[in-house]
Amino acid sequence: MSAVRQLKNADAPLNAVIDGVDGGDLVLFNLLRDWAQGESLPMYLVGGPVRDALLGAPVKDLDFVLEGDATVLARRLAGATGGDVVTHARFGTATVTLPGARVDFVTARRENYPRPGALPEVSPGSISADLDRRDFTINALALPLWEASPEILDHHGGREDLERGIIRTLHGNSFADDPTRIFRAIRYERRLGFSIHGETLAEMKDALERGCVASVTADRVRHELQRILEEADPAPALRRALQVGLLAAIQPSARPERNLWSRADHIEAFGASSEALDRLVCRAPADFLAGEPLCYLAALVYRISPPQAESLIHRLNMPNSWAGVVRDTIALREMELAVADPASSASQVSAHLDGRSPASLGAVAAISDSPEAARRLRSYLDDWRFRSSMLTGDDLLALGVPAGPMVGCILRELRRRRIDSKVTDVAEERQLVADILKNPDDRQLLEPGRSD
Ligand code: CTP
Repeated sequence: MSAVRQLKNADAPLNAVIDGVDGGDLVLFNLLRDWAQGESLPMYLVGGPVRDALLGAPVKDLDFVLEGDATVLARRLAGATGGDVVTHARFGTATVTLPGARVDFVTARRENYPRPGALPEVSPGSISADLDRRDFTINALALPLWEASPEILDHHGGREDLERGIIRTLHGNSFADDPTRIFRAIRYERRLGFSIHGETLAEMKDALERGCVASVTADRVRHELQRILEEADPAPALRRALQVGLLAAIQPSARPERNLWSRADHIEAFGASSEALDRLVCRAPADFLAGEPLCYLAALVYRISPPQAESLIHRLNMPNSWAGVVRDTIALREMELAVADPASSASQVSAHLDGRSPASLGAVAAISDSPEAARRLRSYLDDWRFRSSMLTGDDLLALGVPAGPMVGCILRELRRRRIDSKVTDVAEERQLVADILKNPDDRQLLEPGRSD
């Protein structure tokens, strides 16, 4: 069991919140607290912001619960501040955004899950019922805002679990009700350096074995995976997801016509992903990892087959940016030998790589077994892809190249020669153009064997 942590301002939690909330958010927080105090509004700060304030971590998003219609309160805040408001009547939720600030409102509610993985049926409830419906004890904390020196409502031992560094569900059906909580448990565990409680881990494994994740919609699964990819360091949570079999469990088994994987295939394919992930993290530059979060997705799919990739793209209803990374990664893995072939020039390699996503290029460079393929992929990423002719199309027309396909043909030739360092300055480019114009039929000038 982890060492006991000292919580920040445990006796004066309001101070902990005020210390953790920054700039624009603090203005909104104080305004809402003034309203709550002045009008005795049953309004609470809940979940993540209370948790993070007690841990002394920066408070990112402010989440409020109102015992009453929160959408009315959200509209009032938007009206008073000039913010934008989006409301969801079915759940009684609303979000107000202003430049540099975002606040979420929830109408205190109870939830009933008609079947595993489905969205819950909701009805208005008390703050207690609202805390009871939540994912983990460390998120089932609320700070009443109408009180001058409020104490935290903690009906499930959340503060003690924060002190002990434990992720624990509130009841045994939590993951079956909402299997996206498996992603969340792993994300919090690795972000906060906590441990998932033994019983909670057993419930998680049970939900995984019963195939509960397969019942969750594509967008909800992808959203939770995306939240892991957006963590400051996604690798630990992804490793854990691979270890517990979460990624292997996302493929539905109920629709055989779409399901190109057997469960054994999933486990094998994602089993090999751990090693790809380790190589990515060890070998890729830190600024690349931080700037291209989809490179982690590339590592996850590096070992899977093209049909498996298509099946995964479908299962997660991937947007083009994700699907492109998945397809590019598999295409690049399959062309590693060609990329490493010493008989291929830099420009020939570049022709294969043009248009591929940087996240895939960098990930495959880090993961590849071939040092030569890796070296060339990095050269392409860092250098070759940025090389272009100094002369423009207009320059070529001014030099006497007839308008038409020849302009593009010469520009491409100039780029190839710059990638291969056969021309290095504008004078050499002009000379090449002059030679082509003198001998337009000399195929040697527009590199033989090329097809444009
Ligand atoms: N919640 C839940 N079950 C979910 C999603 C959310 O019970 N499947 C509850 C938790 O109490 C959570 C709150 O809704 O604290 C807000 O959700 P979210 O914004 O996703 O979590 P935070 O903890 O605020 O944010 P983060 O995960 O980024 O720290």
